[in-house]
Amino acid sequence: VELFEACQQQSSDLTRRKFTYANQLFVSLSDARLYLTGSSMNGLGCRSSDADMCLVMSRNRRGDAIHILSTLQRLFRSLSYVDNPQLIRAKVPILRFREKGSDLEFDLNINNTVGIRNTFLLRSYAYADLRIRPIILVIKKWARHSQINDASKGTLSSYTLVLMVLHYLQTLNEPVLPSLQKDYPECFSPFMELDLVPEGSKHIPPYISRNQSSLGDLLLGFLKYYAIDFRWDSHVISVREARALPKNNSHLWRNKYICVEPFENNNVARAVHEKSKFETIKFQFAESYRKLEQKKDLDSILPVRTVINEESSRR
Ligand SMILES: *[C@@H]1O[C@H](CO)[C@@H](O)[C@H](O)[C@H]1NC(C)=O
Ligand SMILES: *[C@@H]1O[C@H](CO)[C@@H](O)[C@H](O)[C@H]1NC(C)=O
Ligand SMILES: *[C@@H]1O[C@H](CO)[C@@H](O)[C@H](O)[C@H]1NC(C)=O
Repeated sequence: VELFEACQQQSSDLTRRKFTYANQLFVSLSDARLYLTGSSMNGLGCRSSDADMCLVMSRNRRGDAIHILSTLQRLFRSLSYVDNPQLIRAKVPILRFREKGSDLEFDLNINNTVGIRNTFLLRSYAYADLRIRPIILVIKKWARHSQINDASKGTLSSYTLVLMVLHYLQTLNEPVLPSLQKDYPECFSPFMELDLVPEGSKHIPPYISRNQSSLGDLLLGFLKYYAIDFRWDSHVISVREARALPKNNSHLWRNKYICVEPFENNNVARAVHEKSKFETIKFQFAESYRKLEQKKDLDSILPVRTVINEESSRR
Protein backbone atom coordinates (compact mmCIF):
# COMPACT_ATOMS: atom_id res chain seq x y z
CA VAL A 1 0.00 0.00 0.00
CA GLU A 2 2.86 2.35 0.83
CA LEU A 3 4.48 1.66 -2.52
CA PHE A 4 1.19 2.28 -4.30
CA GLU A 5 0.57 5.56 -2.48
CA ALA A 6 4.05 6.81 -3.32
CA CYS A 7 3.93 5.84 -6.98
CA GLN A 8 0.32 6.21 -8.10
CA GLN A 9 -0.45 9.03 -10.46
CA GLN A 10 -1.58 12.22 -8.73
CA SER A 11 -4.37 14.34 -10.11
CA SER A 12 -1.82 17.10 -10.73
CA ASP A 13 0.15 14.71 -12.99
CA LEU A 14 -2.96 14.04 -15.00
CA THR A 15 -3.85 17.70 -15.34
CA ARG A 16 -0.36 18.33 -16.62
CA ARG A 17 -0.68 15.63 -19.25
CA LYS A 18 -4.08 16.88 -20.26
CA PHE A 19 -3.47 20.55 -20.60
CA THR A 20 0.13 21.22 -21.57
CA TYR A 21 -0.24 19.84 -25.04
CA ALA A 22 -3.87 19.44 -25.83
CA ASN A 23 -4.59 23.12 -25.63
CA GLN A 24 -1.50 24.54 -27.20
CA LEU A 25 -1.03 22.21 -30.09
CA PHE A 26 -4.37 21.22 -31.41
CA VAL A 27 -6.65 24.20 -31.15
CA SER A 28 -6.24 24.84 -34.83
CA LEU A 29 -7.47 21.43 -35.95
CA SER A 30 -11.21 21.86 -35.95
CA ASP A 31 -11.91 18.48 -37.55
CA ALA A 32 -9.83 16.46 -35.09
CA ARG A 33 -10.15 15.37 -31.48
CA LEU A 34 -7.37 14.49 -29.12
CA TYR A 35 -7.82 11.72 -26.56
CA LEU A 36 -5.52 10.91 -23.68
CA THR A 37 -5.22 7.10 -23.58
CA GLY A 38 -3.09 4.38 -21.98
CA SER A 39 -1.94 4.28 -18.41
CA SER A 40 -2.38 8.01 -17.69
CA MET A 41 -6.07 7.55 -18.27
CA ASN A 42 -6.88 3.97 -17.30
CA GLY A 43 -6.15 4.38 -13.61
CA LEU A 44 -3.10 2.10 -13.74
CA GLY A 45 -0.39 4.67 -14.33
CA CYS A 46 2.36 5.80 -12.01
CA ARG A 47 3.81 9.27 -11.60
CA SER A 48 6.50 8.57 -14.17
CA SER A 49 4.25 6.92 -16.80
CA ASP A 50 4.42 8.19 -20.35
CA ALA A 51 1.39 9.95 -21.74
CA ASP A 52 -0.23 8.22 -24.71
CA MET A 53 -2.42 10.27 -26.99
CA CYS A 54 -4.63 9.48 -29.94
CA LEU A 55 -5.53 12.08 -32.51
CA VAL A 56 -8.80 11.14 -34.20
CA MET A 57 -9.43 12.78 -37.53
CA SER A 58 -13.11 13.13 -38.19
CA ARG A 59 -12.94 13.46 -41.96
CA ASN A 60 -10.67 12.34 -44.70
CA ARG A 61 -7.45 14.25 -44.93
CA ARG A 62 -4.77 13.73 -47.46
CA GLY A 63 -2.26 11.01 -46.67
CA ASP A 64 -1.85 8.22 -44.19
CA ALA A 65 -0.84 8.26 -40.53
CA ILE A 66 2.90 8.48 -41.34
CA HIS A 67 2.27 11.47 -43.57
CA ILE A 68 0.26 13.28 -40.90
CA LEU A 69 2.75 12.46 -38.16
CA SER A 70 5.69 13.73 -40.19
CA THR A 71 3.83 16.98 -40.85
CA LEU A 72 3.28 17.30 -37.11
CA GLN A 73 6.92 16.43 -36.50
CA ARG A 74 8.01 19.37 -38.66
CA LEU A 75 5.59 21.64 -36.84
CA PHE A 76 6.77 20.42 -33.41
CA ARG A 77 10.42 21.07 -34.29
CA SER A 78 9.56 24.75 -34.51
CA LEU A 79 7.99 24.86 -31.04
CA SER A 80 10.14 26.02 -28.15
CA TYR A 81 8.48 23.79 -25.54
CA VAL A 82 8.81 20.48 -27.43
CA ASP A 83 11.98 18.44 -27.30
CA ASN A 84 13.17 16.00 -29.91
CA PRO A 85 10.05 14.79 -31.78
CA GLN A 86 10.76 11.35 -33.27
CA LEU A 87 8.70 9.40 -35.74
CA ILE A 88 8.51 5.70 -34.86
CA ARG A 89 7.34 3.47 -37.68
CA ALA A 90 5.79 0.70 -35.61
CA LYS A 91 2.68 -1.32 -36.48
CA VAL A 92 0.81 1.66 -35.09
CA PRO A 93 3.12 4.54 -36.03
CA ILE A 94 3.71 7.15 -33.33
CA LEU A 95 5.31 10.52 -32.86
CA ARG A 96 7.32 10.46 -29.61
CA PHE A 97 8.40 13.70 -27.96
CA ARG A 98 9.23 15.25 -24.61
CA GLU A 99 8.24 18.36 -22.86
CA LYS A 100 11.33 20.57 -22.71
CA GLY A 101 13.02 20.60 -19.30
CA SER A 102 11.14 17.58 -17.99
CA ASP A 103 11.19 13.84 -18.48
CA LEU A 104 7.51 13.58 -19.31
CA GLU A 105 7.30 11.64 -22.57
CA PHE A 106 4.40 11.67 -25.02
CA ASP A 107 3.44 9.09 -27.64
CA LEU A 108 0.98 10.37 -30.22
CA ASN A 109 -0.80 8.12 -32.71
CA ILE A 110 -3.40 8.81 -35.37
CA ASN A 111 -6.80 7.14 -35.37
CA ASN A 112 -5.88 4.12 -33.24
CA THR A 113 -9.36 4.18 -31.78
CA VAL A 114 -9.20 0.66 -30.40
CA GLY A 115 -6.73 2.12 -27.88
CA ILE A 116 -9.39 4.55 -26.68
CA ARG A 117 -11.92 1.77 -26.15
CA ASN A 118 -9.34 -0.37 -24.34
CA THR A 119 -8.37 2.50 -22.08
CA PHE A 120 -11.89 2.86 -20.76
CA LEU A 121 -12.42 -0.87 -20.48
CA LEU A 122 -9.23 -1.22 -18.41
CA ARG A 123 -10.29 1.80 -16.38
CA SER A 124 -13.53 0.02 -15.47
CA TYR A 125 -11.56 -3.01 -14.30
CA ALA A 126 -9.11 -0.80 -12.41
CA TYR A 127 -11.90 0.73 -10.32
CA ALA A 128 -14.09 -2.39 -9.95
CA ASP A 129 -12.43 -3.32 -6.64
CA LEU A 130 -10.16 -1.30 -4.35
CA ARG A 131 -7.40 -3.89 -4.55
CA ILE A 132 -6.94 -3.79 -8.32
CA ARG A 133 -4.88 -0.61 -8.70
CA PRO A 134 -2.39 -1.35 -5.90
CA ILE A 135 -1.83 -4.95 -6.92
CA ILE A 136 -1.26 -4.05 -10.57
CA LEU A 137 1.14 -1.27 -9.67
CA VAL A 138 3.20 -3.57 -7.45
CA ILE A 139 3.24 -6.30 -10.10
CA LYS A 140 4.38 -3.84 -12.79
CA LYS A 141 7.19 -2.64 -10.51
CA TRP A 142 8.15 -6.24 -9.76
CA ALA A 143 8.19 -7.15 -13.45
CA ARG A 144 10.24 -4.08 -14.32
CA HIS A 145 12.70 -4.90 -11.54
CA SER A 146 12.88 -8.53 -12.73
CA GLN A 147 13.54 -7.33 -16.28
CA ILE A 148 10.55 -9.07 -17.81
CA ASN A 149 8.50 -5.93 -18.62
CA ASP A 150 9.87 -4.59 -21.90
CA ALA A 151 8.15 -5.57 -25.13
CA SER A 152 10.91 -3.95 -27.18
CA LYS A 153 13.32 -6.50 -25.64
CA GLY A 154 11.04 -9.47 -26.26
CA THR A 155 9.45 -9.69 -22.81
CA LEU A 156 6.01 -8.68 -21.53
CA SER A 157 4.36 -5.37 -22.38
CA SER A 158 2.61 -3.59 -19.53
CA TYR A 159 -0.68 -4.22 -21.30
CA THR A 160 0.01 -7.98 -21.34
CA LEU A 161 0.93 -7.93 -17.66
CA VAL A 162 -2.26 -6.10 -16.74
CA LEU A 163 -4.37 -8.64 -18.65
CA MET A 164 -2.49 -11.46 -16.90
CA VAL A 165 -3.35 -9.98 -13.50
CA LEU A 166 -7.02 -9.44 -14.40
CA HIS A 167 -7.24 -12.99 -15.73
CA TYR A 168 -5.81 -14.42 -12.50
CA LEU A 169 -8.28 -12.43 -10.40
CA GLN A 170 -11.16 -13.65 -12.58
CA THR A 171 -10.28 -17.31 -12.30
CA LEU A 172 -10.17 -17.80 -8.52
CA ASN A 173 -12.92 -20.10 -7.22
CA GLU A 174 -14.35 -17.02 -5.58
CA PRO A 175 -13.34 -14.46 -8.21
CA VAL A 176 -12.17 -10.98 -7.29
CA LEU A 177 -13.33 -9.70 -10.71
CA PRO A 178 -16.05 -10.71 -13.19
CA SER A 179 -15.91 -10.31 -16.98
CA LEU A 180 -17.18 -6.78 -17.37
CA GLN A 181 -17.62 -7.25 -21.12
CA LYS A 182 -20.02 -10.12 -20.41
CA ASP A 183 -21.84 -8.43 -17.56
CA TYR A 184 -22.20 -5.05 -19.27
CA PRO A 185 -22.07 -5.66 -23.02
CA GLU A 186 -23.95 -2.44 -23.74
CA CYS A 187 -21.17 -0.38 -22.09
CA PHE A 188 -18.36 -1.93 -24.14
CA SER A 189 -19.83 -2.56 -27.55
CA PRO A 190 -17.09 -2.09 -30.16
CA PHE A 191 -19.69 -0.27 -32.25
CA MET A 192 -20.43 2.34 -29.63
CA GLU A 193 -19.78 5.82 -30.89
CA LEU A 194 -16.36 7.04 -29.78
CA ASP A 195 -17.66 10.11 -27.96
CA LEU A 196 -19.84 7.92 -25.75
CA VAL A 197 -17.05 5.53 -24.75
CA PRO A 198 -15.77 7.51 -21.72
CA GLU A 199 -19.38 7.79 -20.49
CA GLY A 200 -20.21 4.10 -20.89
CA SER A 201 -17.81 2.99 -18.20
CA LYS A 202 -19.19 5.42 -15.63
CA HIS A 203 -22.37 3.41 -15.19
CA ILE A 204 -20.71 0.29 -13.85
CA PRO A 205 -21.20 -0.34 -10.15
CA PRO A 206 -18.29 -1.72 -8.08
CA TYR A 207 -18.10 -5.50 -7.99
CA ILE A 208 -18.71 -6.98 -4.57
CA SER A 209 -16.46 -10.01 -4.30
CA ARG A 210 -16.87 -12.70 -1.68
CA ASN A 211 -13.12 -13.19 -1.82
CA GLN A 212 -11.64 -10.61 0.55
CA SER A 213 -8.04 -11.92 0.41
CA SER A 214 -5.36 -9.41 1.36
CA LEU A 215 -3.09 -7.80 -1.24
CA GLY A 216 -0.28 -10.01 0.03
CA ASP A 217 -2.24 -13.20 -0.54
CA LEU A 218 -3.34 -12.05 -3.98
CA LEU A 219 0.24 -11.29 -4.96
CA LEU A 220 1.44 -14.67 -3.77
CA GLY A 221 -1.48 -16.35 -5.56
CA PHE A 222 -0.69 -14.48 -8.78
CA LEU A 223 2.93 -15.65 -8.78
CA LYS A 224 1.89 -19.19 -7.97
CA TYR A 225 -0.75 -19.27 -10.72
CA TYR A 226 1.78 -18.43 -13.45
CA ALA A 227 4.64 -20.35 -11.83
CA ILE A 228 2.75 -23.60 -11.37
CA ASP A 229 -0.90 -23.76 -12.43
CA PHE A 230 -1.23 -22.06 -15.80
CA ARG A 231 -0.67 -24.32 -18.83
CA TRP A 232 1.23 -22.06 -21.24
CA ASP A 233 1.46 -24.65 -23.97
CA SER A 234 -2.22 -25.43 -24.28
CA HIS A 235 -4.15 -22.38 -23.08
CA VAL A 236 -4.98 -18.82 -24.00
CA ILE A 237 -5.47 -16.12 -21.36
CA SER A 238 -8.86 -14.53 -21.96
CA VAL A 239 -10.19 -11.62 -19.94
CA ARG A 240 -13.29 -11.37 -22.12
CA GLU A 241 -14.29 -14.92 -21.18
CA ALA A 242 -12.91 -14.70 -17.63
CA ARG A 243 -11.21 -18.08 -18.08
CA ALA A 244 -8.34 -19.89 -19.77
CA LEU A 245 -9.45 -21.01 -23.24
CA PRO A 246 -8.01 -24.11 -24.85
CA LYS A 247 -5.75 -23.11 -27.76
CA ASN A 248 -7.31 -23.79 -31.14
CA ASN A 249 -5.31 -23.87 -34.34
CA SER A 250 -5.96 -20.24 -35.20
CA HIS A 251 -2.83 -18.61 -36.68
CA LEU A 252 -2.92 -16.19 -33.73
CA TRP A 253 -1.83 -18.86 -31.31
CA ARG A 254 0.17 -21.29 -33.44
CA ASN A 255 3.83 -21.57 -32.33
CA LYS A 256 3.44 -18.81 -29.74
CA TYR A 257 4.90 -19.12 -26.26
CA ILE A 258 2.40 -16.86 -24.54
CA CYS A 259 -1.12 -16.28 -25.77
CA VAL A 260 -3.18 -13.44 -24.39
CA GLU A 261 -6.48 -12.62 -25.97
CA PRO A 262 -6.85 -8.88 -26.00
CA PHE A 263 -9.91 -6.86 -26.74
CA GLU A 264 -8.86 -6.58 -30.37
CA ASN A 265 -8.00 -9.32 -32.81
CA ASN A 266 -4.36 -10.03 -32.08
CA ASN A 267 -2.09 -11.83 -29.67
CA VAL A 268 -1.03 -9.18 -27.15
CA ALA A 269 1.97 -11.19 -26.06
CA ARG A 270 3.39 -11.62 -29.56
CA ALA A 271 6.48 -9.63 -28.45
CA VAL A 272 7.60 -12.76 -26.59
CA HIS A 273 8.90 -14.65 -29.60
CA GLU A 274 12.20 -16.04 -28.33
CA LYS A 275 12.28 -19.22 -26.33
CA SER A 276 15.00 -17.87 -24.03
CA LYS A 277 12.91 -14.83 -23.10
CA PHE A 278 9.94 -17.06 -22.40
CA GLU A 279 12.12 -19.22 -20.15
CA THR A 280 13.35 -16.11 -18.31
CA ILE A 281 9.77 -15.00 -17.69
CA LYS A 282 8.76 -18.41 -16.31
CA PHE A 283 11.92 -18.53 -14.21
CA GLN A 284 11.17 -15.11 -12.64
CA PHE A 285 7.65 -16.23 -11.73
CA ALA A 286 8.93 -19.45 -10.17
CA GLU A 287 11.81 -17.83 -8.29
CA SER A 288 9.75 -14.96 -6.96
CA TYR A 289 6.98 -17.32 -5.91
CA ARG A 290 9.49 -19.45 -4.02
CA LYS A 291 11.06 -16.45 -2.27
CA LEU A 292 7.81 -14.74 -1.34
CA GLU A 293 6.27 -17.97 -0.10
CA GLN A 294 9.29 -18.53 2.12
CA LYS A 295 9.88 -15.00 3.41
CA LYS A 296 6.36 -13.51 3.21
CA ASP A 297 8.04 -10.14 2.67
CA LEU A 298 7.68 -7.98 -0.44
CA ASP A 299 11.29 -6.84 -0.06
CA SER A 300 12.43 -10.37 -0.85
CA ILE A 301 11.33 -9.88 -4.47
CA LEU A 302 11.34 -6.08 -4.88
CA PRO A 303 13.50 -3.43 -3.15
CA VAL A 304 10.57 -1.29 -2.01
CA ARG A 305 12.56 1.70 -0.68
CA THR A 306 14.67 1.97 -3.82
CA VAL A 307 11.61 1.86 -6.05
CA ILE A 308 9.88 4.60 -4.03
CA ASN A 309 13.00 6.77 -4.14
CA GLU A 310 13.40 6.31 -7.90
CA GLU A 311 9.83 7.31 -8.51
CA SER A 312 10.04 10.45 -6.41
CA SER A 313 13.36 11.52 -7.93
CA ARG A 314 11.86 11.41 -11.42
CA ARG A 315 9.41 14.21 -10.64
C1 LIG B 1 -9.00 8.45 -39.64
O1 LIG B 1 -10.33 8.02 -39.55
C2 LIG B 1 -11.26 8.78 -40.33
C3 LIG B 1 -12.67 8.27 -40.08
O2 LIG B 1 -12.79 7.51 -38.95
C4 LIG B 1 -10.90 8.65 -41.79
O3 LIG B 1 -11.78 9.45 -42.55
C5 LIG B 1 -9.47 9.11 -42.00
O4 LIG B 1 -9.09 8.89 -43.34
C6 LIG B 1 -8.52 8.35 -41.09
N1 LIG B 1 -7.19 8.92 -41.26
C7 LIG B 1 -6.08 8.19 -41.21
C8 LIG B 1 -4.81 8.89 -41.42
O5 LIG B 1 -6.09 6.99 -40.99
C1 LIG C 1 -9.47 -16.10 -2.66
O1 LIG C 1 -8.24 -15.63 -3.17
C2 LIG C 1 -7.08 -16.36 -2.76
C3 LIG C 1 -5.89 -15.67 -3.35
O2 LIG C 1 -5.57 -14.57 -2.57
C4 LIG C 1 -7.17 -17.78 -3.22
O3 LIG C 1 -6.05 -18.49 -2.79
C5 LIG C 1 -8.44 -18.40 -2.66
O4 LIG C 1 -8.58 -19.69 -3.18
C6 LIG C 1 -9.65 -17.56 -3.05
N1 LIG C 1 -10.79 -18.08 -2.35
C7 LIG C 1 -11.70 -18.78 -3.00
C8 LIG C 1 -12.83 -19.32 -2.19
O5 LIG C 1 -11.64 -18.94 -4.19
C1 LIG D 1 -9.93 -19.65 -31.75
O1 LIG D 1 -10.06 -19.11 -30.45
C2 LIG D 1 -10.29 -17.72 -30.39
C3 LIG D 1 -10.35 -17.33 -28.96
O2 LIG D 1 -9.24 -17.76 -28.28
C4 LIG D 1 -11.59 -17.38 -31.11
O3 LIG D 1 -11.79 -15.99 -31.09
C5 LIG D 1 -11.53 -17.88 -32.52
O4 LIG D 1 -12.78 -17.67 -33.14
C6 LIG D 1 -11.17 -19.36 -32.56
N1 LIG D 1 -10.93 -19.74 -33.94
C7 LIG D 1 -11.30 -20.90 -34.42
C8 LIG D 1 -10.89 -21.17 -35.82
O5 LIG D 1 -11.95 -21.70 -33.77
